[in-house]
Amino acid sequence: MSKSVGIIGSGGVGKTLGLGFLKQGYNVTIGTRDPAKLKEWKDKAGEKASIGSFADAARCDIVVLATLWTGTKSAIDQAGPDNMKGKVVINVTNPLDFSAGPPPRFAATVENPGGAQVQAWIPGARVVKAFNTISANIMIQPKLEDGTADLFIAGNDEAAKKEVTAIAQAWGWGSVNDMGDILMSFWLETFAMLWIYFGFKNNHWTHAFKLLRK
Ligand SMILES: NC(=O)c1ccc[n+]([C@@H]2O[C@H](COP(=O)([O-])OP(=O)(O)OC[C@H]3O[C@@H](n4cnc5c(N)ncnc54)[C@H](OP(=O)(O)O)[C@@H]3O)[C@@H](O)[C@H]2O)c1
Repeated sequence: MSKSVGIIGSGGVGKTLGLGFLKQGYNVTIGTRDPAKLKEWKDKAGEKASIGSFADAARCDIVVLATLWTGTKSAIDQAGPDNMKGKVVINVTNPLDFSAGPPPRFAATVENPGGAQVQAWIPGARVVKAFNTISANIMIQPKLEDGTADLFIAGNDEAAKKEVTAIAQAWGWGSVNDMGDILMSFWLETFAMLWIYFGFKNNHWTHAFKLLRK
């Protein structure tokens, strides 16, 4: 039987990754506080997709966290940290503060990156920070005209990082670079800021990072 993926978050990231996992043969549940807004997505996604609560998503085999940063702790509490015990949790969130309008300000520190905060909020889960340095609309099709995007991931659990690497490779990502433990999330989050500021400065939203080696 195919594994199930639960996505806590119904924005562009949740909907896009949901379709990406469905293409890979997983059953997908998107969790939201407002199921009505996902009717159109469900019609497009088909039989293997369902809509539920944050807790329904957290009960799936693999969990994706894709919530607005300021709502993330609350969404985790509603999902139930115990529901994610022992599971791979792919954390796509970025610690952004939109309170002063766009562009958002960075809302984490090197000692306490967003990724480490999420791991502390779900202590029993195997959190992997990933997919946070690219826009949702190209997250599952990272082959661009200028080349194939490379991914940077971080987390404390080696097996979980291997699982996320396989998922990324199935979507066609280039090299998947394991940067180390969850504290390394900080650097992935600053990369996201670079991505965001490039976007605002150039009004360009389909760029991505590639690591060149000699
Ligand atoms: N958009 C991108 O291209 C992109 C790329 C890389 C990383 N990211 C990061 O990925 C995350 C998701 O981004 P997004 O653009 O897909 O969606 P988003 O608009 O940032 O977040 C939408 C989700 O957050 C939930 N949410 C908002 N406020 C909440 C609260 N107070 N309590 C509980 N849940 C709350 C919403 O719940 P309901 O469903 O109940 O409304 C919804 O599921 C963000 O952290 C973002 O920084 C985004």
